[in-house]
Amino acid sequence: MKMMCASLAAVLALFAAPAFAQKFAGLSKTPALGWNSWNKFGCNVNEQMIRETADAMVASGMKAAGYQYVNIDDCWHGDRDARGFITPNKEHFPSGMKALADYVHSKGLKLGIYSDAGWKTCGGKPGSRGHEYQDALTYAEWGIDYLKYDWCDTNGLKAEGAYVTMRDALHAAGRPVLFSLCEWGDNQPWTWAKEVGHSWRTTGDIHPCFDCIEDHGTWKSWGVTYILDKQEGLRVHAGPDHWNDMDMLEVGNGMATNEDRAHFSIWAMLNSPLIAGNDLRSMSKETKAILTNAAVIALNQDAMGVQAFRASVVDGVEYWYKPLDQGDWALMILNRNPAPHAVKIDWASLHVQDEMSNRMASFGLAHYDLRDLWTGRFAGNTGNKPFAASVPGHDVLLLRLSRRAVRSPY
Ligand code: GLA
Repeated sequence: MKMMCASLAAVLALFAAPAFAQKFAGLSKTPALGWNSWNKFGCNVNEQMIRETADAMVASGMKAAGYQYVNIDDCWHGDRDARGFITPNKEHFPSGMKALADYVHSKGLKLGIYSDAGWKTCGGKPGSRGHEYQDALTYAEWGIDYLKYDWCDTNGLKAEGAYVTMRDALHAAGRPVLFSLCEWGDNQPWTWAKEVGHSWRTTGDIHPCFDCIEDHGTWKSWGVTYILDKQEGLRVHAGPDHWNDMDMLEVGNGMATNEDRAHFSIWAMLNSPLIAGNDLRSMSKETKAILTNAAVIALNQDAMGVQAFRASVVDGVEYWYKPLDQGDWALMILNRNPAPHAVKIDWASLHVQDEMSNRMASFGLAHYDLRDLWTGRFAGNTGNKPFAASVPGHDVLLLRLSRRAVRSPY
């Protein structure tokens, strides 16, 4: 009888187990923080550079600021072996991926890799089409923690099915892997990818400029403000463990410091993964200061996980609000004009409401302390006189508004 009960329990347990694979839940309760090789290095990737980047992530203070993933983008690949298993390029990764993952892990960091849902990656290397389970198994054996999965050479494939196949393959391989969909928003992944991956690209590729479009003939890449404008309407789809990805950062890749600051602030406010794309080994102190600003990163990593929304636009100056945990708010005043612009906020009459998160604030009634997150200075409180400032061109004023009761309860 006892035996029968045990086997019945086993059978019941089988039926109770989910009949379908799932994504690894909880790997990105807040947006991912890391680095990726593509924006700076393109196809020039090798193990030495990845090791040095991991070292620099620690030495620069980025690890301490929360950055965790060191991600190798396209072109790490060699050929598939006789049985169809992918191998790394022997010349550029002579020690192999397992040794590289061990090194990165020894620094307390995680290693990410790149593949593509099609037959070939965007860089013409072997894609995962038809090899999804083999590739997922290989990544698990190597100790990979993050997979960026691209959408080149996918004619005839259905996006949702292709991404679900890789999700299931990763799940079957058994090693928790953050799954980052890179489908450029072509098939509205925000409508179907919540259960598939931890983030999805919402646009085509970024270009390191504030407000230009770079035309490559058959495709275009986009400056910071273009990517921002493409986020319209998407905030309702994102939240903990499923984020809108605005593409990797271009901080330190050629824009002016104020533009880098605005770029980083926008990505932080909209809860995009913050994946640095510069050479961490040779950052200027301005670049480092932007990437490691703990107060700005804290907006991005806020436990509520609610994206900012644009409340108003006046003369090319935009007012973005982000509800934060514990009743705080962030306010970003973005000056899209090239010239400085004077701004004035009369707190007494300012009422902000976000129906999506069911949060509202009357800053003149309940008083909030103001902190400028780029200078670190306190800037009065909302019970005082109206706030006046000049926002430089292509720059932001970024404030955290904290309820007085939270800061000084007695
Ligand atoms: C696509 C992606 C980029 C990068 C390249 C690599 O363009 O969107 O982020 O991964 O492919 O070839």
